[in-house]
Amino acid sequence: MKLGLLVLLVLFSSSSICSAWFGSKHKTSSTSTSSSSSGSGRYSNRHEASSSSSSPFLLNRFRSSSSVVLPVHGNVYPVGFYNVTLNIGQPPRPYFLDIDTGSDLTWLQCDAPCARCSQTPHPLYRPSNDLVPCRHALCASLHHTDNYNCEDPHQCDYEVEYADHYSSLGVLVHDVYTLNFTNGAQLKVRMALGCGYDQIFPDPSHHPLDGMLGLGRGRTSLTSQLNSQGLVRNVIGHCLSAQGGGYIFFGDVYDSSRLTWTPMSSRDYKHYSTAGAAELLFGGKKAGVGSLFAVFDTGSSYTYFNSNAYQALISWLRKDLVGKPLKEAHVDQTLPLCWQGKRPFRSVYEVRKYFKPITLGFTSNGRNKAPFEIPPEAYLIVSNMGNVCLGILNGSEVGMGDMNLIGDISMLNKVMVFDNDKQLIGWTYADCDRVPKSRDVSI
Ligand SMILES: *[C@@H]1O[C@H](CO)[C@@H](O)[C@H](O)[C@H]1NC(C)=O
Ligand SMILES: *[C@@H]1O[C@H](CO)[C@@H](O)[C@H](O)[C@H]1NC(C)=O
Ligand SMILES: *[C@@H]1O[C@H](CO)[C@@H](O)[C@H](O)[C@H]1NC(C)=O
Repeated sequence: MKLGLLVLLVLFSSSSICSAWFGSKHKTSSTSTSSSSSGSGRYSNRHEASSSSSSPFLLNRFRSSSSVVLPVHGNVYPVGFYNVTLNIGQPPRPYFLDIDTGSDLTWLQCDAPCARCSQTPHPLYRPSNDLVPCRHALCASLHHTDNYNCEDPHQCDYEVEYADHYSSLGVLVHDVYTLNFTNGAQLKVRMALGCGYDQIFPDPSHHPLDGMLGLGRGRTSLTSQLNSQGLVRNVIGHCLSAQGGGYIFFGDVYDSSRLTWTPMSSRDYKHYSTAGAAELLFGGKKAGVGSLFAVFDTGSSYTYFNSNAYQALISWLRKDLVGKPLKEAHVDQTLPLCWQGKRPFRSVYEVRKYFKPITLGFTSNGRNKAPFEIPPEAYLIVSNMGNVCLGILNGSEVGMGDMNLIGDISMLNKVMVFDNDKQLIGWTYADCDRVPKSRDVSI
């Protein structure tokens, strides 16, 4: 179980021991850094084209017709996360990355050398010596201020910490991502990523991945970097299947008229949060709980409601299950609230008949309602003991205050679109098992 919401991003003083490693690495490689910067055009034709602005028309045409679609692997339970494979470096090497729309920075566990890394599926990333300087716009964006400390002007140190106390400390480098676009082009795109050489994992055995793929709203996020090079519209979408797997996409590949849309918050610019408040409906009936602001975040396996909404949910469920063949299973510690049947269950689809949908009724352009429906299979799991457990948890217990966090579980079987250009969040039911493959895909 994972709660990957970003809670802290700080520049630390590079007097610490850890950054001294990279500092010395930088010193020994400083000549090659400067010599390779003159040759950095070789990294990517596209980057060359965009920086010299040879043909804005061509770039626009490329962008309007291009996107990247990647299959994802994983599930809510028992795995707890979804991962994609990206090819990074020269020559390109594959890495498994946890997809996280709740944070911006993409980073890899990195041999800089590494102080603390977990076991990774692939050899540790060896950083390029193409360091992102401290005064670079991407470094500034990570620190959310122009007024940050640069002890070494040649490098950008970062530290990210997630809500489950998982953290990564490292330095930003530029390297080459090899990406297949839906218009058939395969491009080598030079983008920034974190070389994370000191990670803290709450449970090291639990995170068998090479790193994190940051898909948030900030400038360092992968879509934003692709967008700033004119390659795709600044749009990220995903479709996670309740059977496990699914896909993510960057760019404009969906039919927007099929989606239900609600505006993104302009105040909480760090998260994909809704501008308007929602009211809660249980089984289609008003629950008497309103003013709910929600954040959508693939970095979290489960959904969290604020204390009020959670209390209302538990009361309703307990009342609604009276007379049904399910009783609370206190021995099952998988999640705080589980129920057992006469015989162990194998799938959520066996129990969905006992449960009703939950709906977050958002507003969209004032009058139209934008309901976000959460059917039973998007709030329940079946534990390894064969009980059914509630995948909506008490956010107040983990210090989220009044916030509501919509995690992977509640976005299952939907195409979710986060359009950063138009500042809109959209969704619709979809078959996420069918990964679009062909050219000119439309989702
Ligand atoms: C991550 O995805 C790859 C396929 O891209 C899959 O083979 C691998 O098992 C996944 N890793 C985990 C830890 O689920
Ligand atoms: C990208 O496309 C090439 C062929 O055009 C293919 O060999 C390769 O496997 C693709 N890579 C990914 C990650 O899909
Ligand atoms: C949710 O958590 C808060 C804070 O720990 C607690 O006061 C409240 O009783 C919890 N609600 C329920 C229904 O358990």
